[in-house]
Amino acid sequence: MSDHEANPNQEIVYKQIFINNEWCNSVSGRTFPTINPATGEKLCDVQEGDKEDVDKAVAAARAAFKIGSPWRRKDASKRGELMMKFVSLLERDIGILANLETLDNGKPFLDAVDDVRATIDVFQYYAGWCDKITGKTIPVDGDYFTFTRHEPVGVCGQIIPWNYPVAMLSWKLGPALACGNTVILKPAEQTPLTALYCCALFKEAGFPPGVVNVVPGYGSTAGAAISEHMDVDKVAFTGSTEVGKLIMQAAGRSNLKRISLELGGKSPLIILADADVDNAALWAHSAIMTNMGQNCCAGSRTLVQEDIYDEFVSKAKLMAENRCVGDPFDAMTAHGSQIDETQFKKILSLIDSGVQEGAVLEAGGKRHGDKGYFIKPTVFSNVQDNMRIAKEEIFGPVQSIIKFKTIEEAIERANNTNYGLAAGIITNDINKALMFSQSIQAGSVWVNCYDIVTTQTPFGGFKQSGHGRELGEYALKEYTEIKTVTVKIPQKNS
Ligand code: NAI
Ligand code: MG
Repeated sequence: MSDHEANPNQEIVYKQIFINNEWCNSVSGRTFPTINPATGEKLCDVQEGDKEDVDKAVAAARAAFKIGSPWRRKDASKRGELMMKFVSLLERDIGILANLETLDNGKPFLDAVDDVRATIDVFQYYAGWCDKITGKTIPVDGDYFTFTRHEPVGVCGQIIPWNYPVAMLSWKLGPALACGNTVILKPAEQTPLTALYCCALFKEAGFPPGVVNVVPGYGSTAGAAISEHMDVDKVAFTGSTEVGKLIMQAAGRSNLKRISLELGGKSPLIILADADVDNAALWAHSAIMTNMGQNCCAGSRTLVQEDIYDEFVSKAKLMAENRCVGDPFDAMTAHGSQIDETQFKKILSLIDSGVQEGAVLEAGGKRHGDKGYFIKPTVFSNVQDNMRIAKEEIFGPVQSIIKFKTIEEAIERANNTNYGLAAGIITNDINKALMFSQSIQAGSVWVNCYDIVTTQTPFGGFKQSGHGRELGEYALKEYTEIKTVTVKIPQKNS
């Protein structure tokens, strides 16, 4: 339950570009519309950042990063206090942020409240790290005293997606600020509103000008300008594998900036025959339906052992049919709309391909209602590994249930993908769970649960699911350079 009030009429105050703690219009004079995907109607026009605006933001972030600047001179502990001040403002405005998120994204309001809470946790966690980022002293050969300094990388570009807009902002800004970097963040063009609201809170908290800059705009323009920029030291990206490759190429073409990438997935959840079928069906349902399937680690391949396959399919079908789809501001709603028309059409065409290729449509399969971009929770059985719905990231509420005989076979088929973000297994056999967690190629493995992403633990992908790790202590590595300092020690007789 939430004590925050859902308000579909939440006022939208911040629609401009935020550079140097100031709001400004785009250099080109252009704006772009942001749409409420639950209604298909425009919420407002937002200033559209492009290369010139990115240049201005980079210059501001570079100045703020200069040795001797207020940000660089700040004690690490004071940086932590500043982040905690920001946390208290997020707490004050949970309701506003959650309403903006639901308007812009179409997710249920109570889920948006949870996302803001998770955002608060992440900033609080990294606030604590500020004065605990330490190097080492190393006993080197010879008369030298040697130590390492873990210094901020510099000006960081951060490009985030629309599925968890405010939470993704926290995964990016939390560790970057804790390590003392300055940032240009580009929210997804579908969901700029919560990032812009956060700018007002950074300013109110007292962050020096230029430390956090937010440039809303499109990927191929503003996003590309960030990844191509010669004066951006690092880019962190979450989104499609296709764009992840473009960002790596841009880094290679420009200044070899550091990159971290959190990309797509086609994550398997394996259900062994010894599992309690009701419990397994519940986990598998939430693994794929959470956030309308728009989740990078969605359990989008449900592999079920043959002995319980039919029973499992009938339970999965029932759960999908009973999932409450509708107005995201209604407290009874578990399932809101997809993000936009493009994704809506992509998902419906992949559902079509499933039917064409011979999978059995057990539930859903079509639009819900007649406005907005709602898709009924969909379940396919009899899914074969070579079907598009078993291979491609759908990023929608589409459960593909696949049959297998032995665990060895299931692991091999589960690993037969270019992705490697997450995986899960439901079983009461500890030996099989351990064998699975050793053999599966994925950055996160869940046993008897799924999608348990915690602030303290690293998250990221094997293979084409990405580079680097976010969250936890591991994320600090992505935002620091290591410097070795060697000092000659004078000897008595020399
Ligand atoms: P996308 O990868 O195009 O968008 C993500 C972010 O990248 C947005 O901020 C976008 O403006 C930016 N971007 C796009 N092109 C860029 C470029 N050339 N240079 C720099 N930045 C660029 O993802 P999109 O088109 O919204 O969704 C397509 C598919 O990507 C989805 O169906 C889903 O499969 C996957 N996806 C995965 C996400 C994840 O969490 N791993 C999140 C969003 C999408
Ligand atoms: Mg929008």
